[in-house]
Amino acid sequence: MTVFSISGEYMGDSVDRRHHTVAVVGLGYVGSCIAAELADRGLEVVGVDTNAELVAELAAGYCRFQEDELADLIGKQITSGRLRVTTDYAEVAKTDVVLVTVGTPVHSDGSLADHQLKGACGELARHLREGQLIVLKSTVPPGTTRHVVLPLLEQSGLAASKEFRLAFTPERLAEGTALRDLRDLPIVVGGLDPESTSDAATFWRQARGGEVIVLDSLESAEIVKLANNWWIDHNIALANELAKFCGLFDVDVLDVIKAANTLPKGNGNVNILFPSVGVGGSCLTKDPWMVWHSARQRELEIHTAPTGRQVNDGMPKYTAQLILDELIKLGKDPATAKVAVLGLAFKNNTGDLRETPTQGAVEALAKSAGEVRIFDPLVDVERAESLFGIRPKATLTEAVQDADCLAVLALHRTFEDIDFATLPVAAQCVVFDGRAYYSKERIASLRELGYVYRGVGR
Ligand SMILES: NC(=O)c1ccc[n+]([C@@H]2O[C@H](COP(=O)([O-])OP(=O)(O)OC[C@H]3O[C@@H](n4cnc5c(N)ncnc54)[C@H](O)[C@@H]3O)[C@@H](O)[C@H]2O)c1
Repeated sequence: MTVFSISGEYMGDSVDRRHHTVAVVGLGYVGSCIAAELADRGLEVVGVDTNAELVAELAAGYCRFQEDELADLIGKQITSGRLRVTTDYAEVAKTDVVLVTVGTPVHSDGSLADHQLKGACGELARHLREGQLIVLKSTVPPGTTRHVVLPLLEQSGLAASKEFRLAFTPERLAEGTALRDLRDLPIVVGGLDPESTSDAATFWRQARGGEVIVLDSLESAEIVKLANNWWIDHNIALANELAKFCGLFDVDVLDVIKAANTLPKGNGNVNILFPSVGVGGSCLTKDPWMVWHSARQRELEIHTAPTGRQVNDGMPKYTAQLILDELIKLGKDPATAKVAVLGLAFKNNTGDLRETPTQGAVEALAKSAGEVRIFDPLVDVERAESLFGIRPKATLTEAVQDADCLAVLALHRTFEDIDFATLPVAAQCVVFDGRAYYSKERIASLRELGYVYRGVGR
């Protein structure tokens, strides 16, 4: 029985999800999360990726991505048989819906590096079947689904709108809360034509449930994702400059943000995000450049996107300088000081090192400090060593031995319970808060233990 109807009509009130078949093309961070989550919802899912090593790992129930619940979910769904993974594109032809989640990096000029997308669409065209719905989820500049994806898919000989449907649904999950986001976030849909939009909306309502926001076009759905990340990156840049500004007046930026955010504005309150060692990951570091480049191609100069990027890119160096200044203030010579960096990933509770701002901070520290040690239980040790040029320490104790500064640059859950009283650090050790946002109580207790607290804007 095929429950999903390409005409967009429900086949009945009670949907039997077991008969929905979905292909997820690209099993990276996003694709793995989506494939596992949809299988958990009762859909038959086949994941396709060109990376044979990744596919073999997943087939064995192993997950290389550090994400809450994900490893368990993949293991469970591979065992149940509802999730299968393969490098064989022929499997796609057996499915009702194809979700494309390949990587979409940008070149240094901000233009889309579309090799993964073109490769995937070229393969899809060879296996496209009449009646299928194709949904692009990868983040792309506006117009990409219409002008890059559509012509490639039509090389199949099938006609869009008539013989297959095409839509865009941005993926808005955040690493660290990915599965929860996939369950809860409103889903945005824009299609090539009203039928494609309706089919995609119906698919998401049946497959996921919850709120589905239907937009007029592919481009409006594509821009929603860019607007989200443009806003986030720019807002963090504001928070980072606010932190620097507060630093001039010995004011705690978090007190200012908390109070400032009580002002009603628009549909909610002013919502200034938090400052930190910087912005990383594979999305916020590229999506504003996609906006900038795609506007420039059309002779519109966008200023806020590159400004946000530049401010946030400057934060790792600024952080390193705050640490060095604090050591000097304490009468410690940076050239002989030992700095232990705790947390290397680009944000709390992930092992993802892509574009991590901690790399820039470590590089800047390594130029002036006597010794820089690094430690992060969530990251891949070999990958960290090749990125940082320093072998991560195996244990917290090894990392902090005689340290003059503990720079907490990502506060993973495992770091929350650190018993600072028992750490074998040097006297007058600085606890530098790069993304921990320690409470006033925690700061007071650190001071009682003899630590010197310093943070970004604190
Ligand atoms: N990582 C995030 O937090 C996040 C959040 C929201 C949206 N996104 C967007 O989602 C997309 C995917 O991001 P990601 O972090 O999962 O990327 P990723 O690099 O982790 O995964 C991409 C996967 O696609 C595979 N691939 C490449 N070419 C292929 C082909 N021709 N056929 C099949 N598979 C192919 C790669 O082997 C890889 O496993 C990007 O557009 C990204 O901007 C990412």
